[in-house]
Amino acid sequence: METYHLYWFSGSGNSLIICKAILEELIANDYNVTMTSMDKCNPKDVDINVVNGFIVPVYEQGLSPLVWDFLNNLPKSNNSPAFFADTMMAYSGGVKGPVKKILKNKGYLPLGAIEIVMPNNYYKRKNNIEKDQRKIEKGIIKAKKFTNDIINNKSKFRDIPIYSTLMGMPSKSKLVSKLMNKMVKVLIDEELCNKCGICTMICPTGHIIVDEVTGYPKTVENTPCIQCLRCMSFCHSEAIKVGNKKNLTYRGVSIKEMLKELNTSKKTS
Ligand SMILES: Cc1cc2nc3c(=O)[nH]c(=O)nc-3n(C[C@H](O)[C@H](O)[C@H](O)COP(=O)(O)O)c2cc1C
Repeated sequence: METYHLYWFSGSGNSLIICKAILEELIANDYNVTMTSMDKCNPKDVDINVVNGFIVPVYEQGLSPLVWDFLNNLPKSNNSPAFFADTMMAYSGGVKGPVKKILKNKGYLPLGAIEIVMPNNYYKRKNNIEKDQRKIEKGIIKAKKFTNDIINNKSKFRDIPIYSTLMGMPSKSKLVSKLMNKMVKVLIDEELCNKCGICTMICPTGHIIVDEVTGYPKTVENTPCIQCLRCMSFCHSEAIKVGNKKNLTYRGVSIKEMLKELNTSKKTS
């Protein structure tokens, strides 16, 4: 029986929702499936004898540096099938193109790719729970249909070659990510913070840790923030500001669910 391994990364939970929808659909079709958070495993341990799926958010018309690093460090393969899904607010800049190129260069067989519009976690927004819920439901339907297309070999990995390579360049550039790290700071308001420690548990890079003396979270200069906004999205007391963004409290899943999925992701070397 064919086995699928799904690798996800998620700031506010949107890509996690889509990953779980794909997982459910695969299980409903009797496949073996595992699901692992990209920030909890080593890409070198990706098994090239199964079908691999990568489910991630769009950042700055590209991908997060963490996701680029993950894809760039996949093991070489000999026609191992792989698919890609991204979640976005509106427009990805054609990021499927550079992703397809990486997969092909590494010897994978790109089975298909899909882009799914989900609620925005990025711009200042008024929470509109019903509207968000409708978007999430539509996204889940699209993800399940895509999964069936993958199973039935009907999916496509479309890209616009030169255009999407150019669009993907800034988000792939190490220089841009260094600049962003310098410019975008995580600020923690100790007056609002209740020391629950959740931000320190979910930060994918270890940029936020607990200060042993005060018990408040603090940031660490030499482990960069990748602006995924996970800390801010899941802070119950709205004590975190990332760059010029604050009080963006949208989260697609509960903190309990996010923690469970991060903790059950199999840890590899
Ligand atoms: C730093 C950052 C940059 C983003 N850039 C884009 C973008 O260029 N285009 C877009 O459509 N959405 C953009 N978004 C919105 C997210 O892609 C979208 O809300 C996504 O579903 C978030 O998924 P997640 O909850 O799994 O992190 C951005 C979000 C963040 C945090």
